[in-house]
Amino acid sequence: MILSKWIPSLLGGLLAAQAVSAIDITVNDQSSLSKAAKQVASDMMNYYNDRDSKIIPGKLDGTWWEGGSMFMILIQYWFLTGDTQFNSAVQEGMYWQKGDDDFFPTNYSQYLGNDDQVFWGLAAITAAELNFPEEDGQPSWVSLAQGVFNTQVPRWDTSSCQGGLRWQIWPYQDGYGTKNAISNGGLFQLSARLALYTGNQTYAQWAERIWDWSATTPLLKEKNWNIADSTTTEANCKDHGDWQWTYNYATYISGAAYMYNYTNGTESKWKEGVEGLLGTSEQFYPTKSFGSDDGSVLVEITCESIEKCDRNQRTFKAYFSSWLAWATLIVPGISDTIMPKLQTSAVAATATCVKDGTLCGIQWYKKASDGTDGLEQQMAVLGVLNANMVPLKNKSPYSSNNGGTSKSNPNAGTNSSDTNTLLTKPITTGDRAGAGILTVIFVTGWVVAITWMIRGG
Ligand SMILES: *[C@@H]1O[C@H](CO)[C@@H](O)[C@H](O)[C@H]1NC(C)=O
Ligand SMILES: *[C@@H]1O[C@H](CO)[C@@H](O)[C@H](O)[C@H]1NC(C)=O
Ligand SMILES: *[C@@H]1O[C@H](CO)[C@@H](O)[C@H](O)[C@H]1NC(C)=O
Ligand SMILES: *[C@@H]1O[C@H](CO)[C@@H](O)[C@H](O)[C@H]1NC(C)=O
Ligand SMILES: *[C@@H]1O[C@H](CO)[C@@H](O)[C@H](O)[C@H]1NC(C)=O
Repeated sequence: MILSKWIPSLLGGLLAAQAVSAIDITVNDQSSLSKAAKQVASDMMNYYNDRDSKIIPGKLDGTWWEGGSMFMILIQYWFLTGDTQFNSAVQEGMYWQKGDDDFFPTNYSQYLGNDDQVFWGLAAITAAELNFPEEDGQPSWVSLAQGVFNTQVPRWDTSSCQGGLRWQIWPYQDGYGTKNAISNGGLFQLSARLALYTGNQTYAQWAERIWDWSATTPLLKEKNWNIADSTTTEANCKDHGDWQWTYNYATYISGAAYMYNYTNGTESKWKEGVEGLLGTSEQFYPTKSFGSDDGSVLVEITCESIEKCDRNQRTFKAYFSSWLAWATLIVPGISDTIMPKLQTSAVAATATCVKDGTLCGIQWYKKASDGTDGLEQQMAVLGVLNANMVPLKNKSPYSSNNGGTSKSNPNAGTNSSDTNTLLTKPITTGDRAGAGILTVIFVTGWVVAITWMIRGG
């Protein structure tokens, strides 16, 4: 009797011991990081393979944009580890969703925002820069990125705020009156990367135009390097939605890093931008009010402590980590600011991967399971593992005159039929990148506001 009472707790103890060491990493050790990344990616792809919409390659349940960002992270993963097992799924999904070579497929385009589309473009330019395999008979990766550029640039809106991309594309959508950081910062980054890859200065001119315009609004305050999430056309882009998100900072940092490199380091504004925004990004390594956190772990500060991160927001740390890591290869002198905290973050992140054995959580600073799991949690952890492998691989992005094999087509996407068919379609669902952001703002805005007041601002 006494013994039988002990058995469950003995077993429990064994399981717990096993679970705690499920994913263990040594930073600066490629084989350890590869092995961890393989586990995290495999668990992510289990969610992908089990989805309801699995007959549609690249389409995740209830969201379209996350397919693009997931493929971006998987392309990085392949490049950094050499593991090809997910490549065919990536190719299949990317080509299936390519639309008229512009990632604006008619099934979804009636409710997509500029930010949704640009993430697929960023996946495509990542594929080009890393020489991700192309399939015969398909458009090149760089041309798909150019297709996104070519469809977004005509949406540059001078009817309000003297410029800028609106968040949403169609007047019937909430968010049409908003100009936001990720849409503008997304096209900024894409343009800068196209400039460096193709050497075509038209892209660089657009990148600079977007940066300069952003700096006339709260979306990019050069005075104190603060990035507001959004501003509205009603207020002529003077108002500001101030929620702080990692990916907004990272997209402007990444674009400025590419511009710095494209201009051969001759224009001080890009280095100043990179360094200024890296400074304000320190806020994402909070030292107070986050329980056990000591300022060394990346936190999505606006939603994590109140446990209100929606599925979109749970992925942001993937982009922050990996975009910043890649920036260290093209801008000298920023690695010491970026990498040590991404290392401690990766250790903390993998320490959350204990649910049912290896599933990761989102509150990395807890360094233990937070009870949650999901495709987004996996993506975020994969992103920070990728980031840690970037300096070990130490291979900067290819460009067309430096080993890049993906062929430019500056006219890609310009014959799109999408714009003619869109307005005739009904709005079906609200699954778009920003929809959740507005929701979380309305639902939890006052909580955040009060939390900030309590913290004394
Ligand atoms: C569009 O929807 C149809 C019908 O559900 C589906 O068969 C097709 O694969 C979808 N295309 C894309 C690009 O998602
Ligand atoms: C950067 O330097 C390279 C090599 O000297 C040169 O070909 C290129 O035109 C320069 N780029 C810019 C934007 O000045
Ligand atoms: C641009 O990036 C390359 C790596 O691709 C690097 O060798 C070079 O030094 C960078 N240029 C500048 C001005 O830092
Ligand atoms: C550069 O890009 C612009 C904009 O897409 C295009 O019109 C132009 O033809 C491109 N130039 C070259 C040399 O590819
Ligand atoms: C646009 O051109 C691409 C290839 O150049 C072609 O596959 C596609 O069908 C064209 N789309 C339209 C709407 O003509």
